[in-house]
Amino acid sequence: MTNSETTLSKLLAESEFNQECKELLSSLPKDKSFFAEYLYQYEGFWYPPNLLEGVLYSQKHFQARDSDIIVVSSPKSGTTWLKALVFALIYRQDYQTPLESHPLLDNNPHTLVPFVEGFNFHTQDTSPGIFSTHIPLGSLPESIKDSPCKLVYCCRNPKDAFVSLWHFMKRLALKEMAGCTMEEMVRGFCRGSSVYGPFWDHALEYWKESRENPGKVLFVMYEEMREQPREWVKRIAEFLECSFTKEEIDNGVLEDIIKLCSLENLSKLEVNQKGKLVNGMETKAFFREGEIGGWRDTLTPLLAEEIDKTTEEKLIGSSFRFFC
Ligand code: A3P
Repeated sequence: MTNSETTLSKLLAESEFNQECKELLSSLPKDKSFFAEYLYQYEGFWYPPNLLEGVLYSQKHFQARDSDIIVVSSPKSGTTWLKALVFALIYRQDYQTPLESHPLLDNNPHTLVPFVEGFNFHTQDTSPGIFSTHIPLGSLPESIKDSPCKLVYCCRNPKDAFVSLWHFMKRLALKEMAGCTMEEMVRGFCRGSSVYGPFWDHALEYWKESRENPGKVLFVMYEEMREQPREWVKRIAEFLECSFTKEEIDNGVLEDIIKLCSLENLSKLEVNQKGKLVNGMETKAFFREGEIGGWRDTLTPLLAEEIDKTTEEKLIGSSFRFFC
């Protein structure tokens, strides 16, 4: 067993629940899983117990401030990238170009941007606070829903997100993953029984909210950001009310931020090759190929079709479409 495997398995299996949480767990629907022994269904979405505990804790204790920014996503949809971009955008006045000394050069984006359901949100006391979460819209802490804080949601096509999750889980080598076939994991993903699943419902709820409340939620597609980073980074800055000035554009600040946060740059940094997060996860696990349509190298046509069929069914009655 590797160190990260030991720590993570321990976290997933032995998380210390308070009585209230234990009672709730025993009342929830559960499903055998590859992420922990069981996933539990809470408010329509599925969680391993330690993450559910984090969700419940955040629902009770997270106090959003009006100026806060929350990066939201389903796992493996570009969270790490968006965290880096938002951090670099918001604090760009503090670091002059060329960006030779920048916190992102020595810190993994997950260290700089605390996870709402990760119990470490108290560590963020700057204003604006930048946080991230995978919590579905309906289960967000009330203070996030009620305050004018802003949400940037990153969405990715389900086949690439699934394949990214598959490789990530294999890399973590949890004991629950031993003997898990891709067919079984696709089946779980498609019936919604996946970490923070159903994947489609998660995206659709935020997409709808972004249409109804565009000042509150910006809906961003991973693939569109990959294809047109300049446009999208500018759009995110506008949404966060920190638009680039002409002088900044002329001085190459936008390009510098895109380069700093690129997969190519972040993945080669020592902190992202050899580092570990506080929960024991190796930082290198968050960086792979970042390809659009990379699922073709991993999914058989039959499994791809299963995911497509679920996508088709889930989108009935909606004008929303995933990228490719
Ligand atoms: P792949 O596994 O397809 O390569 P998350 O950050 O939500 O966990 O998502 C991880 C996915 O985003 C991985 O996709 C990873 O390679 C990709 N990724 C990580 N950092 C990135 C960056 N700076 N730019 C673009 N993609 C990035």
